[in-house]
Order: sequence, then structure tokens, then C-alpha cells
Amino acid sequence: MPNVAVNLPQEQPEQEVPVLRVENLHTWFEIRRMGFIKAGVVRALDGVSFELYQGETISIVGESGCGKSTLAKTILGIHHPTKGAIYFENRNLSDLDKQGWKKYRSSVGYIQQDPYGALPPFMSVQRILEEPMKINGISNKKEQAKRIRQVMEEVKLAPIEDFLYKFPHMLSGGQQQRLVIARAMILGPKLLIADEPVSMLDASVRVEILQLMQGLQKKHNLGIIYITHDLSTVRYFSERIFSMYGAKIIEKSATKALLKQPRHPYTQALFEATSDPDAENLKSFKEVPTGEPPSLMNPPKGCRFHPRCSKIIKGLCDKEMPPEFKINEEQGAACWLYKEDE
Ligand SMILES: Nc1ncnc2c1ncn2[C@@H]1O[C@H](COP(=O)(O)OP(=O)(O)O)[C@@H](O)[C@H]1O
Ligand code: SF4
Ligand SMILES: [Mg+2]
Repeated sequence: MPNVAVNLPQEQPEQEVPVLRVENLHTWFEIRRMGFIKAGVVRALDGVSFELYQGETISIVGESGCGKSTLAKTILGIHHPTKGAIYFENRNLSDLDKQGWKKYRSSVGYIQQDPYGALPPFMSVQRILEEPMKINGISNKKEQAKRIRQVMEEVKLAPIEDFLYKFPHMLSGGQQQRLVIARAMILGPKLLIADEPVSMLDASVRVEILQLMQGLQKKHNLGIIYITHDLSTVRYFSERIFSMYGAKIIEKSATKALLKQPRHPYTQALFEATSDPDAENLKSFKEVPTGEPPSLMNPPKGCRFHPRCSKIIKGLCDKEMPPEFKINEEQGAACWLYKEDE
């Protein structure tokens, strides 16, 4: 019998669900004088949207005060969003009950800027690592010990017995941050949010800590949001770079494409200032561009960057807020320069 080609029904590839989806997120803080007189509102996060896929690292860069930590803390549930939504594995966080929040918190690890401030000073390393397990119902001592051993090995706090009974003040800055990372990893998270994780550490240990995070990301296929104002590190660390300005994400680009050609004038200025060929100078961030960051209580009309932008289109940029324009498959920017001619 001749061979008959049979057309088997093609299996539809499953649509990948982002691990995290942030939609039009706003976090505003009310400022009160003398505790009760309303003095204004700080729009610390003002309409941020993006998706992050499992195993992907996104770097978020931008000057101090542009809303990076507010974004991190809103995703973590430390701040309540004023408007907008956060979806974790397609579930809206605002629909979660107490149990759901507990599960969410165990799925998202948080690495702060100041490791010493993040660690309870009166707890030993062992207790610090036991605590999240207790809260999440892992009470079996053997299981606890196994997990502690595993994460301590992973973050290279070894020999383990030398560290288990130490208190945070007995550790170096690098060791403290390794402990913070171990604590963030102990429940097997899917996502890590690292807010300037190395900016308070000695230059000599920064690379080690970043390499450690990169190793964990690969091994556990973690999603990572890496927040930094140190641009020299992002090129080694992330698939995509988001640039933030005035409480908004104003450019979203694949890392290689952005390093080759940043698109938003703010990102251009930011990266121009660090294109110093001297590797030593690359280690430090230079405050750029000239001019003041915008007030988030009274932000400028139109594009928030327009008072500092050398490419301003008068009559447009100072009047209308630019939406996000897609430039190509890898780059997008909220800038009128990329508006397609109609
Ligand atoms: N809890 C808060 N109450 C009032 N204002 C805040 C609070 N947290 C942050 N802000 C303000 O929001 C803005 C963004 O801050 P932040 O997110 O910490 O920026 P970044 O991390 O980029 O330096 C700043 O103007 C800051 O002063
Ligand atoms: S929208 Fe206008 S002011 Fe804003 S960055 Fe683009 S060119 Fe500059
Ligand atoms: Mg911050």
C-alpha cells in the first residue's frame, strides 16, 4: 500500500502567558501638612504598562525620584495602586483573597537596596531564613533545614555552619545581600524584584552579586525586574531595558538595540553620558542630562521631558503628552519624534 500522507491536526502552540502584566498603573501619594491639611498629590507612578515573561530580565533605569521604587513596591503590594491593575500569571491581584496574597508573596522575591536595613538585626541567619517558611506553613524542621542548606549553598554563604548562627551585623555588606537573596529565594519564587541591589555595596563585590543573581535566574528560569541607575551593569544583565522619566516608562527597547541606538531623547542623553570608553568610568553613573527632573506634584504639561529636551517640537511636545509609539519590533518610545505621518 502506498504511503499516504495524513494531515494530523496541528497542535496549536500554547500562547505564553506573561508571569507579570502591569496595566496603566498609577500610584499617587497624598501629601498632608500638619497631618491633615491636603497640600497636594505626588504622582509617583503615572500610567505604567508592561509585560514580563518567565525567565526574562528587564532592567529599569532612570534618575533618582522618577518612580522606580514606587513601581517595585506597588508590584510587591507594599503600596496600593491608585488606578490600574497588576496581573500575576493572569490573575488580577485585586481579586486575591488573603490566601491568594500569601501565595503571591511567596512567588515574588524582593531584594532591596540596603541589605542591612532589610534584615531584622536581632535574628540569626537561620531564623531569618526560617521565618518566610513558617509564615507559609512549611513547619517540618527537616524540610526547613534542607531548604536553608540549599539556598545558602546557592548564594555561596558557605561553609554553612559558619554563618547559620551569625547575626546580620556580623556579616559584610556583600554577605548581607547574599542573605537577602537567600531569603528571597527560599520559597522558590518565579519573579525577583531587585531594587538597586548593589548600589550600597563596595565596588569589589557588585559584580559578584550581579553574577550570583544571573546564575539564579538561569538555573531557576526566574523573571527578574532589575532596577538600577548604574547603566554600566544593564548591558550584561537584561533582555530588555525600560527607561523611566517623570513617573512614566518612556522607552522600552531590547537591550542590544537600545545600546546601539537609544530612541527617546532622554534615554539618548542618559546613555551618551555613560559611553565613556574607560571601563573604570563606566562603573559610576553620571547625573544626566542637564536641568531638573520634573516635579511629580505639578508635572509639566505635554511631554514631561520637554523643558530639558533639545529636540522639542514647539506647540506639540509642550502641549500634548506623547503616547507610546512602536518604532520597530524591538523598540518603542513615548516621543512625538516617532509619530508616523498620516
Ligand atoms: N511614601 C511616599 N509618600 C510620598 N511621596 C513618596 C513616597 N514614596 C515615594 N515618594 C515620592 O515619589 C517620587 C518617586 O520616588 P521613588 O519611587 O522612590 O523614586 P526612585 O526609586 O526612582 O528614586 C519621589 O518624588 C518621592 O519623593
Ligand atoms: S516628545 Fe518632544 S519633548 Fe518629549 S522627548 Fe520627544 S521630542 Fe523631546
Ligand atoms: Mg529608588
